[in-house]
Amino acid sequence: MAKYTVITMPGDGIGNQVLPESLRVLKAVGFNAEYIHADIGWDCWCAQGNALPERTIELLTKHKLGLFGAITSKPNKAAQAELKPELQGKGYVYYSPIVTMRQRFNLDICMRPCVGFTGNPLNYIRKRAGDAPGFDEPKIDTTVFRQGTEGMYAGVEWTNPPENVRAALNSHPRFKAFANVPGPELAVSCRIITRNAARRICTAAFEYAKKRGFNGVTICEKPNVVRETSGMMEEVAKEVAKNYAGIALWSTNIDAQLMWLNKNPEEYNVIVASNLFGDILSDAFAGLVGGLGFAASGNIGDEVAVFEPTHGSAPKYAELDPPIVNPIAMILSAAMMLDHVNEGQKAERIRKAIADVVSEGKVRTYDMMRIAGGAKSIGQGAASTMQMTDAILEKLK
Ligand code: NAI
Ligand code: MG
Repeated sequence: MAKYTVITMPGDGIGNQVLPESLRVLKAVGFNAEYIHADIGWDCWCAQGNALPERTIELLTKHKLGLFGAITSKPNKAAQAELKPELQGKGYVYYSPIVTMRQRFNLDICMRPCVGFTGNPLNYIRKRAGDAPGFDEPKIDTTVFRQGTEGMYAGVEWTNPPENVRAALNSHPRFKAFANVPGPELAVSCRIITRNAARRICTAAFEYAKKRGFNGVTICEKPNVVRETSGMMEEVAKEVAKNYAGIALWSTNIDAQLMWLNKNPEEYNVIVASNLFGDILSDAFAGLVGGLGFAASGNIGDEVAVFEPTHGSAPKYAELDPPIVNPIAMILSAAMMLDHVNEGQKAERIRKAIADVVSEGKVRTYDMMRIAGGAKSIGQGAASTMQMTDAILEKLK
């Protein structure tokens, strides 16, 4: 019997192209696992009115470890229109299955490493200071700890809020400015932060900093304006910091942080933030180290953990044969899964093999060549998805 059982959820579009590549790599490093396929995503929504089927939930509950590709989400009107005719008008509401999964299993620690590989032509560079010629290519090693279950993604929101909600809003003096807005003209999304979840994400960030030997953690919020929720995040970060002698707590505002990352990104190794800010930050930092083709993530709860590239289903490339998208983000996500189950040496081997392929520079997917993606990219010298994996497998030999 295999030591681990992993639930594989390729989902939609390019999720189906990249997830199998990660399994080839896991096999090559001798990860002793069996894999069970589970459905998730747009087709499930259209056929069942539910993008996260019960069987998938049961499998994750039982086996506790998941690899996820990507899903397609569409706005409400499109979601309703594509629902199977028998299900239309029956009150089905589309919810993103990944957001639902995070909430259902309390996958509240969302970890997103943005680590540059030497020689990646997509790496951030900056002009040297003063009149010195040339440019610097700082080594970026940033991991964003994004709270995964609450904040702006808590899902408590309305257009045309019901009477009792409206009454509650009216009780706040600042709501006076909106008191006369007609219901259908008014949309409200609640940003919810709980002290316990804030403590867990801040602790995860500090634990990681301790493990990696970093001397600081940055809490990135906006407590001067969003006083209650960002205020609580920052307050909790300060409390948690007291347990970590030798690791400083720095505080930045989300807007300023996005400016700093264009000036001195190498100075931020660990950043912790609430859900939406963490989402924005991790995409922004990912852009400095190769973009979506390199951005991996883990959604980690006490029981269940699911690992996924942060990119979506990229529908415009989903039908290309051979596929052209970069499998590295997915493969790095699989490596994070290995870290999670204490198979860190295998994870390191994978990262080293990727580093070797990138620094050698012979095999590059279209995104790494800075050319337009499409059926023509392979003719222009880009590697296919499989060829990139082949190159990584070659380094693992
Ligand atoms: P996307 O991430 O699917 O694609 C944006 C662009 O990034 C692509 O067109 C492509 O140019 C590039 N890209 C993405 N992955 C790549 C890879 N592995 N290699 C090379 N290039 C890559 O985001 P988009 O277009 O905004 O959304 C498409 C669909 O995906 C939507 O339905 C959206 O809701 C969904 N989505 C799902 C996510 C998830 O499953 N976690 C995350 C983001 C979007
Ligand atoms: Mg995102």
